[in-house]
Amino acid sequence: MSITAEIRVGDKTLPLPVIVGTEQEVGLDIQALRDKTGAVTFDPGYGNTGACESAVTFLDGELGILRYRGYPIEQLAGKVSFLEVSWLLLKGELPNAAELAAFTAAEKAHRALPAHVHAIIAAFPADAHPMAILSAATLSLSSTYLADEKVTEAGLNKSQLLLLAQFPTIAAAIYRKGKGLAAVAPDAKLAYSANFLHMMFEGTGNAAAGDPEIAKALDLLLILHADHEQNCSTSTVRLVGSAQTDYFASIAAGITALWGPLHGGANQAVIEMLDGIVAHGGDVNWAVAQAKDKDSSFRLMGFGHRVYKNFDPRATIIKVQADVVLGKLGKNDPQLGIAKGLEEAALKDEYFVARKLYPNVDFYSGIIYRALGFPYGLFTVLFAIGRLPGWTAHWNEHNAGKAKIGRPRQIYTGKNARDVVELSKR
Ligand code: CMC
Repeated sequence: MSITAEIRVGDKTLPLPVIVGTEQEVGLDIQALRDKTGAVTFDPGYGNTGACESAVTFLDGELGILRYRGYPIEQLAGKVSFLEVSWLLLKGELPNAAELAAFTAAEKAHRALPAHVHAIIAAFPADAHPMAILSAATLSLSSTYLADEKVTEAGLNKSQLLLLAQFPTIAAAIYRKGKGLAAVAPDAKLAYSANFLHMMFEGTGNAAAGDPEIAKALDLLLILHADHEQNCSTSTVRLVGSAQTDYFASIAAGITALWGPLHGGANQAVIEMLDGIVAHGGDVNWAVAQAKDKDSSFRLMGFGHRVYKNFDPRATIIKVQADVVLGKLGKNDPQLGIAKGLEEAALKDEYFVARKLYPNVDFYSGIIYRALGFPYGLFTVLFAIGRLPGWTAHWNEHNAGKAKIGRPRQIYTGKNARDVVELSKR
């Protein structure tokens, strides 16, 4: 059955072309609306706005489905590596053995940071948030790398490979600088996540440094974060890139968007909230009551999602991983019990049921990161490392098409025209 649509504004009726996606999602094309009727749409928060067509990731919030390039997240998680998923997001297909070998070798060859990035990390005050440092370090790469190569496809591929290879090195350098420890050089014998743990924890006595099972668990977490279609940070990357802004600068903007506690920063906020519940004697009902209180700004962090109105499939996988990783480390973190109790209490509560609020990707991830020895401030950096291939795939997709500069309209509600009064008469 073909769908037709039209919109009537005053005495003008405009037929609207209908776009149907490969998963039968329906979009109404309103590009001619303002020209033909003088009106614009009004959609704060963009909950009903399709900003682009995209072939990268599909998610169905009602059914709890997430697929990268058509592959269900449940099949990718644990079966392939983060680098394979990165290639998948960037190129559209899983790599064959030769492609993966070449990609892996190239990633290993580009891990070391230029000296100026270490200097930038060192220049930040001790209490600077790691997301601020990550964004600045990423931005700084734009001025030094491949300035004339960046405009070519080969140069761009290389820039994107450099950033993928160097994100973990930047993160580890931020951590070690904060601890007053010297940076550890990357080890080309180690795969992506194992090398990251090595650069983070070598010489600190943290057993995670050389444990292949822990490296595999971390790789899985990165896969779960690798893309999530038009979320706040990805939309930021696309919007900034739409001005034909440099790739590194677009990613630096995405990092700052991700930092916020309503987005990726929720993983840090969850663990801080759990600390708060511990301070209240572990009483999860206290937190539920706070979250329901409309006079309080308290929210159940790690709960709710703009798109998922059912279980976030990433949260389901991460919850299992929390048990696996804590079991492997022999840790009995009371926060895990509190988190499970909080989830149970919230899912039974009419407030959360009516609003379809479920645990999201950030609810259990922080417990794993804490158990692995990551400081709270680095949790969102881990999210960023995972999300980089997704941001990059969207930046490429946006710039490959005939994308216009992103430039929303508004409904002006300010003063009408008036005359400037001289200073002495105001
Ligand atoms: N705790 C308590 N109430 C909530 C929560 C929550 N976590 N989330 C939503 N609500 C209520 C909200 O108060 C509103 O109630 P009412 O209809 O009575 O006014 C209703 O649910 C709808 O909320 P909303 O703010 O309009 O929903 P949204 O789609 O704009 O926001 C969200 C989505 C994720 C920002 C929000 O659920 C939230 O703030 N969650 C906590 C932060 C969080 O965990 N963020 C991570 C999101 S997933 C990963 C990522 O994107 O990075």
